[in-house]
Amino acid sequence: MTVDQSRLHIAIQKSGRLSDYSRQLLRDAGLRIQNGKNDLTARVENFAADLMFVRDDDIPTFVSDGVCEFGIVGENVLAEYALGEGEARFEIVARLGFGRCSLRIAAPETSAYSGPDTLRGARIATSYPCLVRRFLEERGIDAEVVKMRGAVELAPRLGIAGFVCDIVSTGATLEANGLRAVETVLDSEAVLVRTARDIGERKTGLGESLLSRIDGVLATRDSKYIMLNATEESLEKISAILPGAEAPTIVPLHGRPGHFAVHAVCQESVFWETLQKLKDAGASAILVVPIEKMMM
Ligand code: PRP
Ligand code: ZN
Repeated sequence: MTVDQSRLHIAIQKSGRLSDYSRQLLRDAGLRIQNGKNDLTARVENFAADLMFVRDDDIPTFVSDGVCEFGIVGENVLAEYALGEGEARFEIVARLGFGRCSLRIAAPETSAYSGPDTLRGARIATSYPCLVRRFLEERGIDAEVVKMRGAVELAPRLGIAGFVCDIVSTGATLEANGLRAVETVLDSEAVLVRTARDIGERKTGLGESLLSRIDGVLATRDSKYIMLNATEESLEKISAILPGAEAPTIVPLHGRPGHFAVHAVCQESVFWETLQKLKDAGASAILVVPIEKMMM
């Protein structure tokens, strides 16, 4: 595989919890990705970038080494890398709001657990040895950490360890293996990382344009455009209720003195409760519409 130096390289998880969301985010940012799920790379047709599909654990190394200028990866993987491997030469440039999960210590459902002291002298199987060791050290607990690369949940049944420490998202994996979470080591979500290495002017420019598109996608995700009608007296109260809106646009309604149309971008979710509050405050004809694109 030869690496084209005039294009950006973005590392994303090949298959796993983050894969579909990562692809979707890039698509939402307008990148047309040539498909083929089993390929290791994909060319973006309309932007000077190539995607690299790799194991999530390899993403910090690729971005640190500058092999990929950008990567989408869970904070859990970054945190483990930062404690373990050499220098972490990357920076988090956006929090992506998906892939939320926690790194948790879990015990067999039937076993007794009464706080971290229960872990003294125990064996804990995990793919995150550095984070687990830090957790134990911070609490002055002496326990043995057994590193496993996968199938960590099987460790208690196989007699390898009494506890496991692994990523819990929905909790289905723990449940299927008769385990229950007892401690939280780290909360995590997917983030966009950029290499801290010098990547030259052209790629820096490409990176900035990618980032501003992604920021735009993230900003529109929860944002809505609200339109409503209101009387002059109720304007102040209504403006105060609009969630996450700065300076709404207020225009007089033609032929209806004392009546106004209020338009605003709300940068937070708009719930039915909010609509009811607006109505109670005197709003009518309330419309909430999605925003497709936004550039600040
Ligand atoms: C984690 C963990 C479980 C699963 C838990 O793997 O190892 O397999 O997610 O999810 P659940 O609570 O929804 O059942 P991860 O996606 O981090 O992938 P990897 O360790 O294979 O890279
Ligand atoms: Zn992994």
